[in-house]
Order: sequence, then structure tokens, then C-alpha cells
Amino acid sequence: MEEAIVIIGAGQAACQAIMSLRAEGYEGPITLIGEENYAPYQRPPLSKKFLAGEIGYDRVELKAESFYAESGVTAYWGTRATEIDRRAKRVLTNDGRYHPYSKLLLATGAQVREINVPGFELEGIHYLRNIEDVHAIQAGFKPGARMVIVGGGYIGLEVAAVAKKRGIDVTVLETADRVMARVVDPIVSHFYERLHREAGVTLRTGVTVSGFEGEGKVAAVVSGEGERFACDIVLVGIGVIPNTDLAHEAGLEVANGIAVDACARTSDPDICAAGDCTSHPNDIYGHKLRLESVHNAIEQAKTAAASLVGKEKPYNQVPWFWSDQYDVKLQIAGLSTGYTDAVVRGDPESGKSFAVFYLKDGQLLAVDAINRAPEFMMGKILVAQKAALDPARIKDESISVKELVAK
Ligand code: APR
Repeated sequence: MEEAIVIIGAGQAACQAIMSLRAEGYEGPITLIGEENYAPYQRPPLSKKFLAGEIGYDRVELKAESFYAESGVTAYWGTRATEIDRRAKRVLTNDGRYHPYSKLLLATGAQVREINVPGFELEGIHYLRNIEDVHAIQAGFKPGARMVIVGGGYIGLEVAAVAKKRGIDVTVLETADRVMARVVDPIVSHFYERLHREAGVTLRTGVTVSGFEGEGKVAAVVSGEGERFACDIVLVGIGVIPNTDLAHEAGLEVANGIAVDACARTSDPDICAAGDCTSHPNDIYGHKLRLESVHNAIEQAKTAAASLVGKEKPYNQVPWFWSDQYDVKLQIAGLSTGYTDAVVRGDPESGKSFAVFYLKDGQLLAVDAINRAPEFMMGKILVAQKAALDPARIKDESISVKELVAK
């Protein structure tokens, strides 16, 4: 069969894979199949500066549209892959075409988790994952509007910060007993709760949304405890789920994401996967990870591109994440799951600058840095080294971050 690489999904991982395939010396044809009507763009700004209207599409697109043709890529925008025929080695799309492949990359990403309670179909209830979602939200994003946000995670809190600055009346309803519980320790959650309350956000934790009310258009969110939160617009940000259906239906191994090895290969040697959709091994933590991050999309795509051209460049890095809310930048190096000690450097009770070092039996697992770039940068290095740290030195700010490891 003639050489042809097909990429399903047109996000950050796909764009990186195209660049890396060419950098690796692959000169054959590349077909890109993207469901959205846009060439790959950065998603993180969507809930930040792009939503605020501070930057436009030109600042979020990863490459100008001309890049794809210039790179020998046949791109199908607004086109959905509906089936992978592994025997015939071709992908079927919803426009009835078949795309033959010698190698296939799945970069299918993740989709929002939907809220399935009565009234979910009312107008004015939004999610935020793509550009069109943002345009829909912006139509009702006006000073004086009442916005209820369901979910106090990354999306909910970033949107709350942008909305508050816009003069919108914001209520956040979080089902857990604290915000951002999936990713940070209670110390950091409580800091963010204070930050939002000081900005004038009404923040409620331990609230279960049981339904939405309104005549055609949403007018209130109702909680399981019977409370009514009147609103003009609702944003739901309750997490994402990996897009694994195509892989699953094609008989590939799927377990909390498309299962891949350190070289981004799926259970079919001719198919790789990269980005939010995968579950992959990580030697630093010694177990499989499914990550929702730009860094993961980029680095795993580089590895996948190498595998697609027959090279081995295993992917094994310290994950990192960030979030911007008001004038506070959260940077997370590593994963804190399973920590035994959360050691604080700086004062989370007052001000807006501190870091939390997560240790497991003395070994550094992760660092949450709040307006603390040096701690974040050093954290990444020390987590990779599986460094053992002394809590007393972490707390002592007279010791610089570079000297945290005792000589
Ligand atoms: N009602 C209220 N809150 C809920 C409900 C519910 N029914 N279900 C879940 N939640 C809460 C969770 O407890 C969690 O705090 O919603 C929050 C979801 O937070 P995240 O998992 O961070 O998901 P989200 O904010 O939607 O962001 C999804 O988008 O920003 C990107 O990649 C980033 O991982 C992130 C993804």
C-alpha cells in the first residue's frame, strides 16, 4: 500500500504531529480530518482572554490556514470520522469518503461532560470547549446579567473571573465541598474560594443541581435542596471525557482513554494516539495517566510522530498545568495524587503568592505555585529527579528555591 498518514482530530496534538512528521523527514501525504470548522487553535485562552474579547481568532489559531496546504496536508474541516476500518486500513467520514492510511493517528481529544437533569435543553445553558461555544456565551455576556456557573473547576472559575470583571452577577455552584478538588489540596481550594468571594462572586459548595427552570429559556437553576438561583445565563463546566468511541468500535484497547504505550502506540501497531484522549504510562509516577493539558498534547504528539515514521522517542515527562484567574496565575508541576504531606511556602491566608509542595514519604510529587514562577520551574526539575525534600527547608523562605535540596 502507498504511504499515507491520516490524522483524526484537529487540535493541538494534530497540529504538533504534522510539524513533527515533517521534521522527522516524512515526505508522504497527510490527511487531516477535523470536526470543527476551524483549523487547530489553542483552547486555554477560550475561557480567559478570548472570552473577555481581549484577543481574537488570529491570536488563538496555531498556524495560519495556508500552513496546511503548504505542508502537504489535505485538510477536511467540519468533517467527522465515523469509522476506522482496520482490515481495509481506511477511515470513513460523514461525507461518505474513505481515507486510506498506512499509519493512523488518533488525536480526538475530549468532550464536555453534559449535565443530565430536567430542563437541560433550555436555551441559555452553555458549555465551553470550542470557539463556537464562546461565541454563544458572548451573546449573553453583558454587564448586569445574572450568570450561574455549575462546576467550580478550571473552566467554571476562569469564566467566573472574566464574567465578574465584565460586571456580571456571578454565582458558582460546586457539588464537592471545595472548588478544584480534582487537582489541588484544600489549602489551595480555600485560597481560590477567598479570591472569588473577595471579587464579589457568590460561591456555594456542596450544592447538587437537580434541574433548570424556564419557559424556553433558562430562568433559574434549582438545587437538590430546593433552592432556586435566578439567572439569565448558565455555564456548565463539570469536566471532560476522552473521545474514545471510534477507537473502541474499531476494537482498540480503551481503559480511561485510548490505551497507548510510552511511544504513543495503541494496541494496533499501525495506529498511534496522542493528547487528551489517551491513557499512557509514566515512569515518574509508576502508573498510567490520562492528562488534560497542552503540554501533554504537544509532547505526546512528538512521540507519536516519531513512532509513525518508525523511530522510538518514548514520552515520559513531568505533567504541568496552569490557570489564570483575576491577577493570579496558578502553575502546577506534577501530580499530587497520593501525597502524605502538603508543605506550604509563603502565606495562603493573606496576599496572593505562595506554593504548596506535595511530598510522599519525603519525595516530591508535585508543586502548586500561586504567583510563584520560581517554585514552579524548580518544582518541575525536582519532581523529575524524584528529589527528597526537607519540609523545614521548604517553609524557610530565607532558603532560595534553588537550594531546596540540601547539599
Ligand atoms: N454540579 C456541580 N459541580 C459539579 C457537578 C455537578 N453536577 N459535577 C461535577 N462538578 C464539579 C467537580 O466537582 C469539579 O470541581 O465540576 C468541576 C469540574 O472541574 P474540572 O474537572 O476541572 O473540569 P472543567 O472545569 O470542566 O475543565 C475541563 O478543560 O480547562 C480545561 O483541560 C482543562 O481539564 C480541564 C478541562
